[in-house]
Amino acid sequence: MGKVAQIESLPLTESGGEIPVHVAIIMDGNGRWAAARGLPRIEGHRRGVEAVRRTVRHAGRRGVKALTLFTFSSENWSRPKSEVEDLFNLLRFFIRNDLAELKANGVRIKVIGRREGLPPDIGDLVREAESETAANQGLTLQVAFNYGGRDELVRAARLVGEKMLAGAIDPADVNERIFEEHLDTAGICDPDLLIRTSGEARISNFLLWQLAYTEFVFLPVCWPDFDETEFDAAIAEFHSRERRFGGLFHG
Ligand code: IPE
Ligand code: IPE
Ligand code: MG
Repeated sequence: MGKVAQIESLPLTESGGEIPVHVAIIMDGNGRWAAARGLPRIEGHRRGVEAVRRTVRHAGRRGVKALTLFTFSSENWSRPKSEVEDLFNLLRFFIRNDLAELKANGVRIKVIGRREGLPPDIGDLVREAESETAANQGLTLQVAFNYGGRDELVRAARLVGEKMLAGAIDPADVNERIFEEHLDTAGICDPDLLIRTSGEARISNFLLWQLAYTEFVFLPVCWPDFDETEFDAAIAEFHSRERRFGGLFHG
């Protein structure tokens, strides 16, 4: 076990070492996975949900404290209406079908992204998933749904501005910590490791603030084929990196 065993003892707020306390994943390539097999895109998304289950279990097993999954971006609204509906239905299915197991396994669910503009029943399901698991102490599963990094930053700026107008915050006191407290991710340390599948090497508006010093690992595998071996390979790659945070090499 070695390094992996140490993960358990690291508090969520003290990230920055060699160990990925927080892993974020851009789960990409569902459509290409399906197309390569002559299947409709929805089939790729369905198989993607199975990969989510495998990944949540394995992350917990490896002692990762927080796992953030990019499931639907602010820009994904530009896809055909039928695909958007399919993706919403999969979120509905996942929460209804998997909530009990996640709850029993101590997983705490947190959903980040814009809530306005979503179908009301999705808002209800998300609130239910969060409140039913709020007291859990195991893996924090942060689901980025209807999420865009720029949208999150603008919403945070608006919240801070409203507090300034109300006199609750002095403009001179605004610093990184205060700003961070108004992001959707408040209370969760920045990701140590970002994995993107499907061979694309871009951020696509994910966690723009939080990825400042995250290590990026891009894997060629499409998301439905992502498994325990791929996860461990990404962690091994992470371990081989020298993080400096702007300082000097300490090797
Ligand atoms: C990732 O797979 C899932 C979502 C973005 C919702 P894609 O649907 O982007 O699959 P590709 O990139 O078209 O293959
Ligand atoms: C990013 O993937 C969003 C999710 C994985 C949910 P996209 O497939 O939407 O990103 P682009 O369009 O290739 O940049
Ligand atoms: Mg894609």
